[in-house]
Amino acid sequence: MKVLIVGSGGREHAIAMSVAKSPKVDKIYCAPGNAGIAGVAECVDIKAMELDKLADFASENNIDLTIVGMDDPLVAGIVDVFEAKGLRVFGPRKNAAIIEGSKVFSKDLMKKYNIPTAAYESFTDPAKAKEYLEDCKYPIVLKADGLALGKGVLICNTREEAMEGVKTLMQDKQFGDAGNSIVIEEFLTGREVSVLCYCDGTHIKPMTSAQDHKRAKDNDEGLNTGGMGTFSPSPFYDDVARKFCEDYVFQPTMDAMKKEGRDFVGILFVGLILTPDGPKVLEYNARFGDPEAQVVLPRMKTDIITVMESCIDGKLDEVELEFEDNACVCVILASDGYPEKYEKGKVITGLENFEGRDGYYVFHSGTKFDGDNIVTNGGRVLGITAKGDNLKEARKNAYEATKWVNFDNKYMRNDIGKAIDDVIN
Ligand code: AMP
Ligand code: GLY
Repeated sequence: MKVLIVGSGGREHAIAMSVAKSPKVDKIYCAPGNAGIAGVAECVDIKAMELDKLADFASENNIDLTIVGMDDPLVAGIVDVFEAKGLRVFGPRKNAAIIEGSKVFSKDLMKKYNIPTAAYESFTDPAKAKEYLEDCKYPIVLKADGLALGKGVLICNTREEAMEGVKTLMQDKQFGDAGNSIVIEEFLTGREVSVLCYCDGTHIKPMTSAQDHKRAKDNDEGLNTGGMGTFSPSPFYDDVARKFCEDYVFQPTMDAMKKEGRDFVGILFVGLILTPDGPKVLEYNARFGDPEAQVVLPRMKTDIITVMESCIDGKLDEVELEFEDNACVCVILASDGYPEKYEKGKVITGLENFEGRDGYYVFHSGTKFDGDNIVTNGGRVLGITAKGDNLKEARKNAYEATKWVNFDNKYMRNDIGKAIDDVIN
């Protein structure tokens, strides 16, 4: 089989490594890819949003399956473009990817189908939003409706901050049209957990859980980022929480989408918060998480191509999903200054230290070739990942491996997975 992967980050590198393990696959392409992905796939110089060019490439090269890693092309309808050309593609159609593309849509869906989530109101008029904020309980959460690289969520401690937030999102349009509508929702407290699920439109199969660390600095300080590190599984997502989510969140979401005529095929990423009143949905995404994929996929035993094909064919119920009974931790090495201003083009050394080391992975997020060198090319640069028999060991191994590579302005959080010390001692 020939497989094309669309995207260029650590998530796509992790997908490519899983696909490379499949005995069904002879050749992998990745568009546009990066310097690390080039080690497992042939990189193709087409951007993820050049939907027609990607579909033409897939037709001309007889690609048997295209896997879309990123949210923007999914929300823009890449699956519909491919299907119109008779191409096989893994991901939700545009009418289902809206579950990530519009927070107003996803909140309204949850309300209509009684899926547990924070109480909210949505607004298209900044004056009305400000009026509503006059007598709210604080803190409160403001969310831009559309895609904003995970940065369109503002947690506001005071009325003044919230008023300013409405201005930032709706009037100054810091995230462009993503702020045409906003959701204002109740602030919830609890541990967060991400559960990524395979879906075939009717059936849904959750993968092992993971937890991200979204803030840039230790102790969850600093700005929100795309994600600074992950661990899997989450010890906080116990059997009670899992059973609750299976009964009241996962299958109900699939059924709701079907009832709306928006059958969801692909990866449904459910971002949960485990509140004192039980698990509630913080957000849905329509694709693998980055860096959640980097800790979940290395633990997956089932052949990824078999699972994805069963999703496309509506036969996910016939597949048994299996994960290793171990743990995995990913620490992101970023460029100092991320998510604000940072420099690129710094030479990366030590990547060869990962060669032949079982259970250790260096997933490339933002890298490129510069002559014979591999250099930094983004805020998030590498995802240093290691397995262990348990979370503590995986964390120790991952942090040890962060020392094997270097580049100027290397920055990381030092407390990825530290929360597990509360439950494992
Ligand atoms: P989202 O993109 O909706 O997942 O939001 C990004 C981050 O903001 C989440 O991972 C949470 O840490 C935080 N967040 C979002 N919604 C809420 C909420 N209702 N209460 C507390 N924190 C929230
Ligand atoms: N790590 C969070 C996300 O991929 O949205």
